[in-house]
Amino acid sequence: MKTKELKIPRIKDGTVIDHITAGNAIKVLHILGIPKTSSAVVSVAMNVKSMMGKKDIVKVENRELNPSEVDKIALIAPRATINIIRDYEVAKKHRVKLGTEVIGLVKCSNPTCISNSNEPVKSRFIIMNQDPIRIKCYYCEREPEDISERII
Ligand code: CTP
Ligand code: ZN
Repeated sequence: MKTKELKIPRIKDGTVIDHITAGNAIKVLHILGIPKTSSAVVSVAMNVKSMMGKKDIVKVENRELNPSEVDKIALIAPRATINIIRDYEVAKKHRVKLGTEVIGLVKCSNPTCISNSNEPVKSRFIIMNQDPIRIKCYYCEREPEDISERII
Protein backbone atom coordinates (compact mmCIF):
# COMPACT_ATOMS: atom_id res chain seq x y z
CA MET A 1 0.00 0.00 0.00
CA LYS A 2 1.32 3.41 -0.98
CA THR A 3 2.00 5.80 1.91
CA LYS A 4 -0.56 8.32 0.62
CA GLU A 5 -3.31 5.71 0.95
CA LEU A 6 -2.70 5.48 4.68
CA LYS A 7 -3.96 9.05 5.13
CA ILE A 8 -7.59 8.18 4.42
CA PRO A 9 -8.86 4.69 3.65
CA ARG A 10 -10.24 3.86 0.20
CA ILE A 11 -14.01 3.86 0.01
CA LYS A 12 -16.32 1.18 -1.40
CA ASP A 13 -18.94 3.39 -3.08
CA GLY A 14 -19.36 7.13 -3.41
CA THR A 15 -17.43 10.15 -4.67
CA VAL A 16 -13.85 11.24 -4.12
CA ILE A 17 -13.20 14.92 -4.77
CA ASP A 18 -9.45 15.09 -5.29
CA HIS A 19 -6.96 17.87 -6.13
CA ILE A 20 -8.97 20.45 -4.18
CA THR A 21 -7.08 23.74 -3.75
CA ALA A 22 -5.28 23.32 -0.39
CA GLY A 23 -7.35 24.76 2.45
CA ASN A 24 -10.68 24.63 0.61
CA ALA A 25 -11.95 21.22 1.80
CA ILE A 26 -14.16 22.90 4.39
CA LYS A 27 -15.77 25.03 1.70
CA VAL A 28 -16.44 21.87 -0.32
CA LEU A 29 -18.17 20.34 2.73
CA HIS A 30 -20.26 23.49 3.03
CA ILE A 31 -21.28 23.26 -0.65
CA LEU A 32 -22.32 19.62 -0.11
CA GLY A 33 -24.43 20.63 2.89
CA ILE A 34 -22.33 18.57 5.30
CA PRO A 35 -23.27 18.23 8.12
CA LYS A 36 -26.37 20.46 7.94
CA THR A 37 -28.47 18.79 5.26
CA SER A 38 -26.54 15.59 4.60
CA SER A 39 -25.66 12.78 6.95
CA ALA A 40 -23.30 11.07 4.49
CA VAL A 41 -20.12 9.49 5.89
CA VAL A 42 -17.28 11.82 4.90
CA SER A 43 -13.52 11.77 5.32
CA VAL A 44 -11.29 14.75 4.71
CA ALA A 45 -7.55 15.17 4.25
CA MET A 46 -6.03 18.63 4.12
CA ASN A 47 -2.62 19.85 3.00
CA VAL A 48 -1.65 16.48 1.52
CA LYS A 49 1.61 16.59 -0.45
CA SER A 50 1.14 15.86 -4.16
CA MET A 51 3.10 16.27 -7.38
CA MET A 52 1.68 19.77 -7.82
CA GLY A 53 2.25 20.99 -4.24
CA LYS A 54 -0.42 20.69 -1.56
CA LYS A 55 -4.03 19.63 -2.01
CA ASP A 56 -7.13 18.66 -0.04
CA ILE A 57 -9.25 15.53 -0.59
CA VAL A 58 -12.90 14.91 0.36
CA LYS A 59 -14.41 11.40 0.23
CA VAL A 60 -18.20 11.13 0.46
CA GLU A 61 -19.60 7.64 0.88
CA ASN A 62 -22.68 6.35 -0.96
CA ARG A 63 -23.40 9.62 -2.68
CA GLU A 64 -22.92 11.14 -6.12
CA LEU A 65 -22.94 14.90 -6.76
CA ASN A 66 -25.42 16.93 -8.77
CA PRO A 67 -24.25 19.31 -11.55
CA SER A 68 -24.74 22.51 -9.53
CA GLU A 69 -22.67 21.09 -6.66
CA VAL A 70 -19.92 20.23 -9.17
CA ASP A 71 -20.05 23.77 -10.65
CA LYS A 72 -19.84 25.33 -7.18
CA ILE A 73 -16.79 23.16 -6.45
CA ALA A 74 -15.25 24.31 -9.75
CA LEU A 75 -15.68 27.92 -8.63
CA ILE A 76 -13.55 27.39 -5.50
CA ALA A 77 -11.31 24.50 -6.62
CA PRO A 78 -10.72 24.86 -10.37
CA ARG A 79 -8.40 21.83 -10.58
CA ALA A 80 -10.56 19.42 -8.61
CA THR A 81 -11.28 15.97 -10.02
CA ILE A 82 -14.51 14.11 -9.33
CA ASN A 83 -13.98 10.35 -9.02
CA ILE A 84 -17.06 8.12 -8.88
CA ILE A 85 -16.21 4.98 -6.92
CA ARG A 86 -18.17 1.77 -7.44
CA ASP A 87 -17.17 -1.37 -5.58
CA TYR A 88 -13.73 0.09 -4.75
CA GLU A 89 -12.93 0.90 -8.39
CA VAL A 90 -12.74 4.36 -9.96
CA ALA A 91 -15.71 3.96 -12.31
CA LYS A 92 -15.55 7.53 -13.69
CA LYS A 93 -13.10 10.40 -13.34
CA HIS A 94 -13.45 13.90 -14.66
CA ARG A 95 -11.97 17.27 -13.94
CA VAL A 96 -14.47 19.96 -13.02
CA LYS A 97 -15.26 22.17 -16.00
CA LEU A 98 -17.39 25.29 -16.03
CA GLY A 99 -19.50 26.23 -19.04
CA THR A 100 -19.76 29.81 -20.31
CA GLU A 101 -22.06 30.96 -17.47
CA VAL A 102 -23.27 29.99 -14.00
CA ILE A 103 -26.83 30.87 -12.95
CA GLY A 104 -28.05 31.08 -9.38
CA LEU A 105 -24.80 29.87 -7.79
CA VAL A 106 -23.02 33.08 -6.74
CA LYS A 107 -24.41 36.24 -5.13
CA CYS A 108 -23.32 39.48 -6.83
CA SER A 109 -21.19 41.75 -4.62
CA ASN A 110 -22.93 44.88 -5.94
CA PRO A 111 -25.80 45.77 -3.58
CA THR A 112 -27.58 47.75 -6.32
CA CYS A 113 -27.34 44.95 -8.91
CA ILE A 114 -30.74 43.88 -10.27
CA SER A 115 -29.96 40.33 -9.13
CA ASN A 116 -29.94 41.65 -5.54
CA SER A 117 -33.20 43.59 -5.90
CA ASN A 118 -36.72 42.42 -5.20
CA GLU A 119 -37.14 41.58 -8.89
CA PRO A 120 -37.32 37.85 -9.63
CA VAL A 121 -33.91 37.87 -11.34
CA LYS A 122 -31.47 35.04 -10.62
CA SER A 123 -27.79 35.86 -10.32
CA ARG A 124 -25.93 35.21 -13.54
CA PHE A 125 -22.16 35.26 -14.05
CA ILE A 126 -20.04 34.96 -17.17
CA ILE A 127 -17.02 32.69 -16.74
CA MET A 128 -14.02 34.62 -18.04
CA ASN A 129 -11.37 32.18 -16.84
CA GLN A 130 -11.57 28.91 -14.92
CA ASP A 131 -8.06 28.63 -13.48
CA PRO A 132 -7.41 31.03 -11.88
CA ILE A 133 -11.11 31.69 -11.56
CA ARG A 134 -12.45 34.99 -12.93
CA ILE A 135 -16.15 35.71 -13.30
CA LYS A 136 -18.18 38.81 -14.17
CA CYS A 137 -21.81 39.63 -13.36
CA TYR A 138 -23.93 39.44 -16.53
CA TYR A 139 -26.06 42.37 -15.31
CA CYS A 140 -23.69 44.89 -13.70
CA GLU A 141 -20.30 43.55 -14.86
CA ARG A 142 -18.92 43.55 -11.32
CA GLU A 143 -16.15 40.97 -10.72
CA PRO A 144 -16.39 39.56 -7.19
CA GLU A 145 -13.00 39.15 -5.53
CA ASP A 146 -14.09 36.76 -2.80
CA ILE A 147 -16.04 34.20 -4.85
CA SER A 148 -15.69 31.48 -2.22
CA GLU A 149 -17.53 33.70 0.28
CA ARG A 150 -20.36 34.39 -2.20
CA ILE A 151 -21.50 30.88 -3.12
CA ILE A 152 -25.27 30.64 -2.63
N1 CTP B 1 -9.96 6.34 -4.09
C1 CTP B 1 -10.66 5.99 -2.93
N2 CTP B 1 -11.30 4.78 -2.86
C2 CTP B 1 -11.24 3.92 -3.88
C3 CTP B 1 -10.54 4.26 -5.06
C4 CTP B 1 -9.90 5.50 -5.14
O1 CTP B 1 -10.73 6.78 -2.00
N3 CTP B 1 -11.86 2.73 -3.73
C5 CTP B 1 -9.33 7.67 -4.18
C6 CTP B 1 -7.82 7.65 -4.29
O2 CTP B 1 -7.25 7.64 -2.99
C7 CTP B 1 -7.55 8.96 -5.01
C8 CTP B 1 -8.78 9.15 -5.90
O3 CTP B 1 -9.79 8.30 -5.36
O4 CTP B 1 -7.51 10.04 -4.07
C9 CTP B 1 -8.54 8.78 -7.34
O5 CTP B 1 -8.04 7.45 -7.38
P1 CTP B 1 -7.02 7.00 -8.52
O6 CTP B 1 -7.56 7.40 -9.85
O7 CTP B 1 -6.70 5.56 -8.29
O8 CTP B 1 -5.73 7.87 -8.10
P2 CTP B 1 -4.72 8.67 -9.02
O9 CTP B 1 -4.36 7.87 -10.22
O10 CTP B 1 -3.62 9.15 -8.13
O11 CTP B 1 -5.65 9.91 -9.46
P3 CTP B 1 -5.25 11.20 -10.32
O12 CTP B 1 -4.53 10.74 -11.55
O13 CTP B 1 -6.59 11.82 -10.63
O14 CTP B 1 -4.41 12.07 -9.43
ZN1 ZN C 1 -24.30 42.23 -10.49
